[in-house]
Amino acid sequence: MNIDALARPEILALEPYASARRLADSAGLLLNANENPWSPNNEGTALNRYPDPQPAALKAALAGEYGVVTDHLLITRGSDEGIDLLVRAFCRPGVDRVLTCPPCFGMYALSARVQGATVIEVPLIETEAGFTGDFDTIAKSPPCKLYFLCTPNNPTGNELAADDILTLAEQVAGHGLVVVDEAYVEFGEQPSLANRAGVVPNLVVLRTLSKAYGLAGCRIGSVIAAAKIIALLRRIIAPYPLPTPAVAAAMKALSPSARKRRGKQLTTLMAEKPGLVAALGKHAAIIDVWPGAANFVLVRTVAGAGLVEAAARAGIRLRDQSAQPGLTDCVRITLGTPDENARLIAFLEEWQP
Ligand SMILES: Cc1ncc(COP(=O)(O)O)c(C=O)c1O
Repeated sequence: MNIDALARPEILALEPYASARRLADSAGLLLNANENPWSPNNEGTALNRYPDPQPAALKAALAGEYGVVTDHLLITRGSDEGIDLLVRAFCRPGVDRVLTCPPCFGMYALSARVQGATVIEVPLIETEAGFTGDFDTIAKSPPCKLYFLCTPNNPTGNELAADDILTLAEQVAGHGLVVVDEAYVEFGEQPSLANRAGVVPNLVVLRTLSKAYGLAGCRIGSVIAAAKIIALLRRIIAPYPLPTPAVAAAMKALSPSARKRRGKQLTTLMAEKPGLVAALGKHAAIIDVWPGAANFVLVRTVAGAGLVEAAARAGIRLRDQSAQPGLTDCVRITLGTPDENARLIAFLEEWQP
């Protein structure tokens, strides 16, 4: 597969910015980056210095975590940046198309529209068993540069079958990349496709430390793809995307002791779901409950906005999903700590629309 033929020609033609930290390592006298020689604190972290654009130790740790080689991984400011880089690298304004499967995470369409790409929507199908991807319609759609799939999907929580995703990658191999957003994969049962990205040349996987790893505040995500795609994205990523404290926190979160703690936390978190689902299922004003495979539950109520407003008055923030296609009166509820979930259930017992 010829990635250069898919990329925007102007991205291939440009001379990427060569930052001081990229041109030379940070050994010896550092008089090459117009930094201040003194740090504002005495904590020993060299915050006066620009960070490594892609710190090797973090890259190796993330690659190890996801079971991929470092050449297939780019560390980004969350998956949000990965999505944006892909759209900017591949979509010519006014010419190229991006496919999304709503209801889904809003950043795919937003990044595409900011770039001037056309958004083709192939909605998920709602069945008795929950939501599912409409792969036949996706395959018959006008050719797109990027096909954004999300599994488990936000906000419906459904997983997509690996076979369907890989078949689509084969079907669109001549003209597009299949981008699988696995932001919630650690909560589900299905294995990640990360180790297939880079092997299947037009498969891209997005992973993040924002959800299961508890580091949303650090903004650390990974794009996993063939080395050619990673090299292309590196041409346009900001010179120093990864702040030093965020990198340090990510390294800690990937340590064996943090992994042990995380395992226990995830077990506790997911053990909360059946109780919440049962409470929601019993409520007279809740029509549908989609437990999903992630750290949230989606419900359809008789009054979605009313539920969100009443919860806010009780000091509980929920997310109204009514603006999403097919989700009128739907509300997404994120799992919290056992105490927080108990507070939510107590609120629901009192709530009447
Ligand atoms: C499906 C999905 N992808 C990506 C993101 C953004 O992740 P990050 O924090 O890594 O930018 C979110 C955040 O809610 C999400 O739900």
